[in-house]
Amino acid sequence: KNDHFYQIAIDGPAGAGKSTIAKLLSTNLAFTYIDTGAMYRAITYKILKQNVLLDNEHAMIALANQTEITIKNGRIFLDQEDVTELIRSEKVTKGVSIVASVKEIREEMVRLQKRISQHSHVVMDGRDIGTVVLSKADLKVFLTASVKERARRRFEEMREQEPDLQLQAIEEQIRQRDFVDENREHDPLTPANDAVHIDSTSLSIHEVVEKITQLFCEKIKKN
Ligand code: DC
Repeated sequence: KNDHFYQIAIDGPAGAGKSTIAKLLSTNLAFTYIDTGAMYRAITYKILKQNVLLDNEHAMIALANQTEITIKNGRIFLDQEDVTELIRSEKVTKGVSIVASVKEIREEMVRLQKRISQHSHVVMDGRDIGTVVLSKADLKVFLTASVKERARRRFEEMREQEPDLQLQAIEEQIRQRDFVDENREHDPLTPANDAVHIDSTSLSIHEVVEKITQLFCEKIKKN
């Protein structure tokens, strides 16, 4: 079974802790970590930078088709430019759900994500990883937390960069993003049938990582 590359899929709503946990997990297991949200953010960054309007699907798709996104050593590159920090801005965060609801853009991203997972063991996080991208993953996790807790975490995280941000505004933003992500027509955020649900509201990061590691070890022992 040496030609089998392991796949761990982690899906869930914004701020549930997916990326923190996926990163730690990938370090512990020596797997490649793929942040698929960062890919949607990168294309959103380019769309906004070129002043393409978010209701102009045609123009957004055309731009996406002329875009090269690559990931290397945990950094994300947009047409060779390192945009790892730039894609975390408020503007990008606000626009990304709209961009991610465009079918043709999703297809392009999914193609890229599948290709990356073909030549290494991966931990991939996003919204449609267990359902679409890695539908045969060795382990699928659906990670959630209460809206209040997710808002509190993001607030702590953003405090230094954006000191004017209010907790209530973040909570409202998270609710809106959940709504768009869960209700879009194409590949909405929904748990895969065979996903293990983990509610991280009252768990530490360490506890969640431990739990997933255990689940993964049990899974691969069985096969
Ligand atoms: O995980 P994140 O906050 O960086 O994701 C940004 C947005 O991208 C999120 O609002 C939904 C979208 N997304 C998606 O539609 N599918 C994915 N696999 C990952 C992210």
